[in-house]
Amino acid sequence: MTHQNLFDRIAARIDEQGRITFADYMAACLYEPGLGYYTSPGRKVGVEGDFYTSITVHAAYGRVVAREVAAMWRSLEQPAEFTLMEVGAGHGRLACDILDFLKEREPACYAASRPVLVEQEPTLAGAQRQVLHEHADKLRWLTPAELASGIRFRGVLYSNELLDALPVHRVLMTPEGLREIYVTREGEQLKEQLGPPSTPALAEYLSRYGMPLMPGQEAEVSLAALDWFDSVVAGLEQGFILTVDYGYAKEELYAPHRKLGTLLCYHKHRVEDNPYQLLGEQDITSHVNFSALIQRGEEQGVKTLWFGEQCRFLLAAGMVEEFEAIETSSLSEAEKLKKRLTLKRLIMPEGGMGDTFRVLVQSKGVPQAALGCLRGIGI
Ligand SMILES: C[S@@+](CC[C@H](N)C(=O)[O-])C[C@H]1O[C@@H](n2cnc3c(N)ncnc32)[C@H](O)[C@@H]1O
Repeated sequence: MTHQNLFDRIAARIDEQGRITFADYMAACLYEPGLGYYTSPGRKVGVEGDFYTSITVHAAYGRVVAREVAAMWRSLEQPAEFTLMEVGAGHGRLACDILDFLKEREPACYAASRPVLVEQEPTLAGAQRQVLHEHADKLRWLTPAELASGIRFRGVLYSNELLDALPVHRVLMTPEGLREIYVTREGEQLKEQLGPPSTPALAEYLSRYGMPLMPGQEAEVSLAALDWFDSVVAGLEQGFILTVDYGYAKEELYAPHRKLGTLLCYHKHRVEDNPYQLLGEQDITSHVNFSALIQRGEEQGVKTLWFGEQCRFLLAAGMVEEFEAIETSSLSEAEKLKKRLTLKRLIMPEGGMGDTFRVLVQSKGVPQAALGCLRGIGI
């Protein structure tokens, strides 16, 4: 029924406006209250869901991130209150893995840490409370609107697969210039229609943070990611922004060979390319333009500390130590092998998660940052 109700909601908007931008369509498919993919009941991530994220693979991912969090806290000279702001916190697994590690291995940092969860879907707070029950006395929540209103904080703001889930505009370069892809309908059928860009911000974005598109090339433009980024930079008094996601630098994202852009849908661990089916029942994502975050940050005095593939980040930041911990544990050989293979998934290049995901570490107002990923271990 979700599907039909969501279709009716979208169709009513199309009838009222004639057509809607793809960004408005994607926002409805993912976030329409009670009907969107992320805002309706059901497990999205993990084995019973539609896709895996690094968090669902192994706690080692969160433990390595926690090592960097502790290094960030030290780089700020060990403040007595250190905010750990996770945006798009889902079920709270990553926050829990980070806090478990800190409690066990970095008690002073744990004592200072003030975890805050921000999630578009408010009903996930119940699951987060359960997963994080051991850290219950520390937890706080903010709505995305509260965060965007410029709440001031000092610490680290981190996200895993948040920005690829924000709505994107889609554009096509034609011999007559840039056109935008809109969504309209013929009866019960949703159709794409080309038209002039809905806002000059699309062309401005491409010339400032993108690349010239070739005639016939389609691409996505995430104005929402930039807006979001601006609001968190405004709120961050001093500290770090750690972003992990599918994505590329602009030269690769907008390369001429990527003629159809990067929009993809996920349903029950299958990749689909039709965003007009399974309304509200499939995830719709698009790769993140990391150059936009880097440049936008630098325009506002935010320093780029590290950018690269997840495998290089994890290895430099502490994954080797996680492998060593398996070796010295009292597990059986068979269990050790199983654990090693699971960890390998996080760092495997060519098809694994290791080079599909990129990590960006930025800082604001931090004169000297001594992080694991900056050790330069030559990989
Ligand atoms: C792909 S899921 C990733 C969940 C989790 N971080 C993980 O890696 O398993 C994206 C999550 O971001 C949430 N989200 C989307 N926009 C958001 C926003 N502006 N603020 C906070 N959460 C948001 C969605 O509701 C969804 O739970």
